[in-house]
Amino acid sequence: MRVVVTQSEQELGARAADLVAEVVRARPQAVLGVATGSSPLPLYRELGRRVEAGELSLAGCSAFMLDEYVGLAENHPQRYRQVILRDLVQVTDLDPGRVHGPDGLAGDPHQAALDYDRQIRESGGVDVQVCGLGTDGHIAFNEPGSSLASRTRVMPLAAQTRKDNARFFDGDEDAVPRQCITQGVGTIMEARRVVVLAQGEQKAEAVRQLVEGAVSAMWTCTALQWHPDVVVVVDEAAASRLTLRDHFRAVEQDVPEWRP
Ligand code: GLP
Repeated sequence: MRVVVTQSEQELGARAADLVAEVVRARPQAVLGVATGSSPLPLYRELGRRVEAGELSLAGCSAFMLDEYVGLAENHPQRYRQVILRDLVQVTDLDPGRVHGPDGLAGDPHQAALDYDRQIRESGGVDVQVCGLGTDGHIAFNEPGSSLASRTRVMPLAAQTRKDNARFFDGDEDAVPRQCITQGVGTIMEARRVVVLAQGEQKAEAVRQLVEGAVSAMWTCTALQWHPDVVVVVDEAAASRLTLRDHFRAVEQDVPEWRP
């Protein structure tokens, strides 16, 4: 696995943006996989800066979100669609009409999940997937115990995740929805490139498992060890439990050229 240890938030954003920009340069109509949460924010800010500076355009791209809460009202500020519009679409030239997400308000969320999985496949698939990590090692909302071959589906949120995400709901854990629709691990694995972002000591164990742990449904991020083009971009604190961290710090990570 390729691990890039960065020294500042700005560097983390820039290294991740390089990986996304390479894909968009090679394929201006690229399909982006986008994640919510605080981890991708330095990347989204840097993409915004590059678009503003005329160095990059996402105008030809489309995007698929990783996951969505079930049952949050259309205009709820924590609905993931609203978060992506705020954090990414508003700061770049990505067309909001081309940003797709699971329908968390569908009458039949199970059918909505199946439809969304099919929609991703029919788009030709995700070219570059941006991904954060839960403190319990989840990717999207694939909580511990999820099948590593899973597809997009309705899932309950783990107690740890509801606790972690309460900060977005004025600290009120009860306000955090109990269910979500999430891309499966198997769905995410079909992206052509995956860029994982993690910052801070609270992610150090998840990063250790992701890079050096045994592949296990208990740490769903470890499935990515089977993916041929994953780059993990972290800060020193998130890298702090890696046995190989000096090695990763010392070597320039040789990322394979992205080909459409
Ligand atoms: C949520 C999202 C994940 C995200 C995780 C980490 O659980 N469903 O996609 O990776 O939060 O969030 P943060 O980056 O804010 O730590």
